Amino acid sequence: LDAATGGANMTKLLSNKLEASIISVDVDREVAEDIYQVVNKNRVTFVLCDLANLPFRNGAFCCVVCDLTLSTIEDWRHYQTLKEFKRTLKPKSRLYITDYLPEEPPKSKRDKLAVEAWRLYKAASHLKGAPHYEELPSTLIIQWLKDVGFHDVEYGPIKAREKLEWKEGFKEYYGNMKKEIAEVKDSKIRMVFRTKLEELRREITKAEPQAGAEST
Ligand SMILES: C[S@@+](CC[C@H](N)C(=O)[O-])C[C@H]1O[C@@H](n2cnc3c(N)ncnc32)[C@H](O)[C@@H]1O
Repeated sequence: LDAATGGANMTKLLSNKLEASIISVDVDREVAEDIYQVVNKNRVTFVLCDLANLPFRNGAFCCVVCDLTLSTIEDWRHYQTLKEFKRTLKPKSRLYITDYLPEEPPKSKRDKLAVEAWRLYKAASHLKGAPHYEELPSTLIIQWLKDVGFHDVEYGPIKAREKLEWKEGFKEYYGNMKKEIAEVKDSKIRMVFRTKLEELRREITKAEPQAGAEST
């Protein structure tokens, strides 16, 4: 199970690397229209559904992958979603979760900047009334996982991230943030956000990242 499809990067990766049938799910109807253009139709089936209420039998899957999705779930239904993952997984099977989460307390300069950038984005989206990532501490996710019955939980940063990816990633973030900030109605708040974004840009451009500190 690939939960959720989004831009289908993970579904594509899984369907290219594995000789397995993949069910990719998302609650967004538009995703359904795009997915079959980028993945192998023989191996992937798309199902439109809510992660917190999966239309699959108990033990249907031998693996669940939840990539960059958990913190985007709205209305605090993360716990229910994890329960659904546990229910639909065969016993002794694996669940993989990746996400961007603020590392608290930040362990490096890079962590600190990543957390500030993350929170700036969240605040701008919040002010606009747009959906945004929830700040889920890793300790909370680990506790939820244990509560729903995943007893062997491992947690850590993704090490394969490269220096270039971080700075390149920020360029994209910077562009998105500028657009987001432009839509903040109050001019004083807009100015504060712009000043903070520029401060982050200066700091991030000169900071030497250590591989893999901002992502879990
Ligand atoms: C950032 S995208 C996932 C990225 C994806 N893994 C990829 O490789 O491109 C997050 C997706 O989660 C979906 N989503 C959020 N809450 C959901 C829910 N409750 N049920 C199903 N899908 C949900 C959103 O519609 C969005 O498409």
